[in-house]
Amino acid sequence: EKGGYDYFMLKEIAEQPKAVADTLLGRIDGSGSLTLDEVRISAAELREMDKVVIVACGTAFHAGMIAKYAIEHWTRIPCEVELASEFRYRDPILDQQTLVIAISQSGETMDTLMALRHAREQGSKVLAICNTNGSTIPRESDAVLYTHAGPEVAVASTKAFLTQLVACYLVALYLGQVRGTKWADEIRDVIRDLSQIAGAVDRVLETMQPVRELARSLAHKNTVLFLGRHVGYPVALEGALKLKELAYMHAEGFAAGELKHGPIALIEEDLPVVVVVPSPRGRSVLHDKIVSNIQEIRARGARTIVIAEEGDEAVVPYADHLVRIPATPTLLQPLVATVPLQVFACELATARGNEVDQPRNLAKSVTVE
Ligand code: F6R
Repeated sequence: EKGGYDYFMLKEIAEQPKAVADTLLGRIDGSGSLTLDEVRISAAELREMDKVVIVACGTAFHAGMIAKYAIEHWTRIPCEVELASEFRYRDPILDQQTLVIAISQSGETMDTLMALRHAREQGSKVLAICNTNGSTIPRESDAVLYTHAGPEVAVASTKAFLTQLVACYLVALYLGQVRGTKWADEIRDVIRDLSQIAGAVDRVLETMQPVRELARSLAHKNTVLFLGRHVGYPVALEGALKLKELAYMHAEGFAAGELKHGPIALIEEDLPVVVVVPSPRGRSVLHDKIVSNIQEIRARGARTIVIAEEGDEAVVPYADHLVRIPATPTLLQPLVATVPLQVFACELATARGNEVDQPRNLAKSVTVE
């Protein structure tokens, strides 16, 4: 059942290139535009939307945080992301012109379900992004875009997360396409880049041995910090969540720009800090700022574990450990940058003798509020 792997999680990490490719399958036509027939909300209705609100929990929430960057960039529609468990208790402002996106692997998460029910009661249309055919969340939504990750057995979400990202990008690009925003050329280019991204995920998987060795060497540590900026910030949060749930370690993700507002006080000798570095192309200002952050924390004794694009030489002098990822467009980087963090957490958990597929106190689908 585990296909030769020791754990379902390892199998599911390895299945990610296929999961990503399957989620794109049939959704990009020959001319390079998107055909999302499943999204049964008409183009006319989508053009009327003046706000997008994303609700989700845990890892799916991190996918939603990344989706916000993509949606606002490609469509110029304001987008909010909220933890489903917080959403309905603050009387959120919703109407017919709000598109609500509920992201859930299982389709049974009670918090997300209650949030979407609340949104529909206010007259909003709900689009579900879900991995489980016929589950409750898509059944109760106006439309659904299925992720085609296949069954995810390990409690910690891996391949479902990558496919949630793909689905979010597809929705963002589709909204951009339907609304004919000024980014049309960029949208076409990104659709082309997306169709090649499975290969990039595969290349990351082939280079994970040093990450495993590094994880094993850190098994005695108590704390690991994660830093990122822009879409790398949710990636940092996701890396920290994986480490908490699997390795039972204290792990925290920060937006790198916040370091000087408090977290830098945590840095001490030999503290492992994982830094997700944005591409030096694209938003190069952010890249340079993060390189300064790496310098600052290293000067204070941190052991820096740097995840950076191939060819990014600026990070080399400050990286105690360097993990290379393929170059991608800025917004798509989470698809490759998350993979080493999954492998890192899985290996650390194993080294600490933890049950990888069934972490203590957790359930695969959380059907209580
Ligand atoms: C973490 C994890 C959880 C889920 C969360 C939402 O690895 O798996 O944080 O992401 O419980 O679950 P779904 O997506 O099924 O709604």
